[in-house]
Amino acid sequence: MNDRNRELIALANAEVEAYKSKVEQDPYRLTYHIMPPVGLLNDPNGFIQYRGTYHLFYQWNPFATEHGAKFWGHYTSKDLVHWQHEKIALAPGDWFDKNGCYSGSAVEHDGKIKLIYTGNVKDKDGNRETYQCLAVSENGVDFEKQGVVVELPDGYTAHFRDPKVWQHNGSWYMVIGAQSKDLTGKAVLLRSTDLKTWEHLGPIAGAHMEPFADFGYMWECPDLFELDGRDVLIFSPQGIEPEGIKYNNLYQAGYVVGDMDYETVRYKHGSFVEMDRGFEFYAPQTTLDEKGRRILFGWLGIPEEREGDHPTLKHNWIHAMTLPRELRLIDGKLIQKPVEELKQLRKTETVYENVRLTEEPEAFAGIEGKALELFVEAKQRLSGSFTINIRNHVTVHFNDEKQLLSLKRISFVDHASVEERHCFLKELKNLRVFLDASSIELFANDGEEVFTARMYPDPQDVSVTFVGKGTGFLRLTGYQL
Ligand code: FRU
Repeated sequence: MNDRNRELIALANAEVEAYKSKVEQDPYRLTYHIMPPVGLLNDPNGFIQYRGTYHLFYQWNPFATEHGAKFWGHYTSKDLVHWQHEKIALAPGDWFDKNGCYSGSAVEHDGKIKLIYTGNVKDKDGNRETYQCLAVSENGVDFEKQGVVVELPDGYTAHFRDPKVWQHNGSWYMVIGAQSKDLTGKAVLLRSTDLKTWEHLGPIAGAHMEPFADFGYMWECPDLFELDGRDVLIFSPQGIEPEGIKYNNLYQAGYVVGDMDYETVRYKHGSFVEMDRGFEFYAPQTTLDEKGRRILFGWLGIPEEREGDHPTLKHNWIHAMTLPRELRLIDGKLIQKPVEELKQLRKTETVYENVRLTEEPEAFAGIEGKALELFVEAKQRLSGSFTINIRNHVTVHFNDEKQLLSLKRISFVDHASVEERHCFLKELKNLRVFLDASSIELFANDGEEVFTARMYPDPQDVSVTFVGKGTGFLRLTGYQL
């Protein structure tokens, strides 16, 4: 490691120490989610299970609650629930990454963890350069950079980043998020035998490639993996216009389902589906764990959207990770469930059988609190409508006639207007809701649809009330977490 990296790491550690108590005093600090110790966290990076331990790295600016020259922060866990903060994995202290160790992934090779990430470089006039770089660790915590392995090929702008690497039939493959010279988004494939020399295979999906017409000016953070016999491509496109209840966030994150032919290097796929219907979800990344599960973390944030308005800024931190979700593909649809291990968080259980909601708001003892898991099950086909009012700030609403599930919150920009997101749902069978001090994650029908969002209610108000109109019988379960 050179002196510049050492100096940057020392400065970042000093920043963590300096702001520790201010950060921890924030009533909006989450209690069971991954957060930065100080500063700004964005994409999940390098997610891998290595020798039994889960490693999750994150894009991190320790020096400000804004984007900047990113580090890779590092957490480890034995169970996906309890996380330990580790030493900084990467600092932007080399010529090839001096303006940021941008997003990337991890693989195990020769018994070591290898990180493949983007070195972001800007010259004095702000012109961007991009390098795909390699770093290696023998012990899982100390990383040695090995420099640049991929340079920008012809045909693309310098928006060429976020390598996700995996192995298939004895070769390594890398998919990169890119912008081609015509300023449209692409996912580009490369191949290698040793992770060092890479052959460019060209774009496998993108705007103006079948079946897409216009589909964004840039695709970030692609991830291609096999799931239940198909090949799923996840990516975060930028430049998609809202269409009714779809694409209402500034930037999207979603998937296509298809089949990858590695011989002909062709990926045939269907249409794009948003992975999450909430306000904050971006740049997800998956790994295959030792149990054979495909697990995903997303960033519980969106770049450039209301980032200056989060009240956590006053406490010198911003953003978090989602909970880990297990992915399955059922009838061509991506199903996302909170991982089984999260049950370990439950401290108490309160069950109400045969609940019949009325138009009079009703609270249920034991089903309230800042850190709460709530499970609502319809005992028979749910008709009419019902609403859950969370901390007088956020509502979850299902309307059977419109077949619409909605999440509404009071804006944290003007503290008055109501913002909403929706998805169509033919029938509501159940809802699993995870509340933390300033977040909500909502899984409908065992993971058929997911809504993820931040929320900033009055910290003293921990109420949850229910209202129904011709709803029928429900079973309500609450777990304090
Ligand atoms: C996505 C992203 C990536 C980039 C990283 C920089 O949020 O813009 O494309 O690598 O964040 O922090």
